[in-house]
Amino acid sequence: MDFQTRCVHTGVNKDSAYNSCTTPIYPSSTFYWNDLETNSGYDYTRSGNPTRRALEENLASLEGGIDCRAVSTGMSAITAAMYLFKPGDHIITGNDIYGGTFRLFYDVFTSQGYKFSFVNMRDPDAVKAAIKPETKGLWIETPSNPLLNIVNIADMVEIARENNLISISDNTFLSPYLQRPLDMGVDVVVHSTTKYLNGHSDVVGGAVITKETEHQERISYIVNAMGLACSPFDAWLVLRGVKTLGPRMEAHQRGAIAVARMLDEHPKVERVYYPGLESHPQHELAKSQQEGFGAMLSFDITEDRAFAEKVFKNLKLFQLAESLGGVESLIEYPETMSHASMTAEARKEAGISEKTIRVSIGIESPEDLVADMKNGLDA
Ligand SMILES: Cc1ncc(COP(=O)(O)O)c(C=O)c1O
Repeated sequence: MDFQTRCVHTGVNKDSAYNSCTTPIYPSSTFYWNDLETNSGYDYTRSGNPTRRALEENLASLEGGIDCRAVSTGMSAITAAMYLFKPGDHIITGNDIYGGTFRLFYDVFTSQGYKFSFVNMRDPDAVKAAIKPETKGLWIETPSNPLLNIVNIADMVEIARENNLISISDNTFLSPYLQRPLDMGVDVVVHSTTKYLNGHSDVVGGAVITKETEHQERISYIVNAMGLACSPFDAWLVLRGVKTLGPRMEAHQRGAIAVARMLDEHPKVERVYYPGLESHPQHELAKSQQEGFGAMLSFDITEDRAFAEKVFKNLKLFQLAESLGGVESLIEYPETMSHASMTAEARKEAGISEKTIRVSIGIESPEDLVADMKNGLDA
């Protein structure tokens, strides 16, 4: 079945009692046993739940994995994936990853004995140069948050294979509708389902999708042992959201290219970070490994923070809020918001400054979005 058909149909047929056309929510924390040996396939919701299972089947199919675990947040997904490694292991990642991921690696996992190198992942030689005997993993985020840098997935897969590393890709920014890292040879995909997969800014969630049995068994064990799984209701919301993933992504992208082109011409804008613009230095790479350019974009204004604040106040449609991937457009200031959890030096190294503004384009009319953004910058 085609991708969009699987969005709608995979995992939804779970009701043998009344033939409902949508997956029921099973909020029960526990399931009674038939006898001392057998049960319905579920015993306790931390370990497994039919509604959550429906979502897991759906996401595994969309990403092309063998299985999935749906968890409580994107950070839970990243945490679970990090347990494919152990203290002493070294993991190479980008220097411009999501601030929360940076904090988890730099602070939490480093204090547990994990080691990290944060490098410019656009440069495969920089990744190769960072490899040490104890290197065990490559953590890929592409496009990166917030500067939309593109990591060449095929190059990373090659480096991972040559050096026997587990490659993990955070596919939150594009969703499987636009990019499928597992098909390109990556081992594990993680998501913040809070974003495009759910798509309506009304749930926080995450997912880990694997394609090797060994990885799947470890992730399942960790999610159960650490209690990371999402609630049945949250799973149901994401399953509902994912049904419209394709049409939403198309609508998001129509707005994104229109706003990016306007920003590119605006005198108050110094630089636009959107791989869909032909002028973007990695436009061709993005085109070769993605099926679209997504709807996240960032830009540097010509002036400083005070001007940014004025712009935010002038906007009517773009709400000043963190997060992304919902049907409504959001705008935010990475330095004090999404990337405040990075150190100032790390932000500087990544290229995030007080001029940087990040935008998540919703599915409103492109004309209205362009007019609002233009008005915000002009006023
Ligand atoms: C790329 C990326 N990965 C992971 C996360 C974390 O997701 P969550 O907020 O659902 O924990 C985010 C959140 O913004 C993100 O942008």
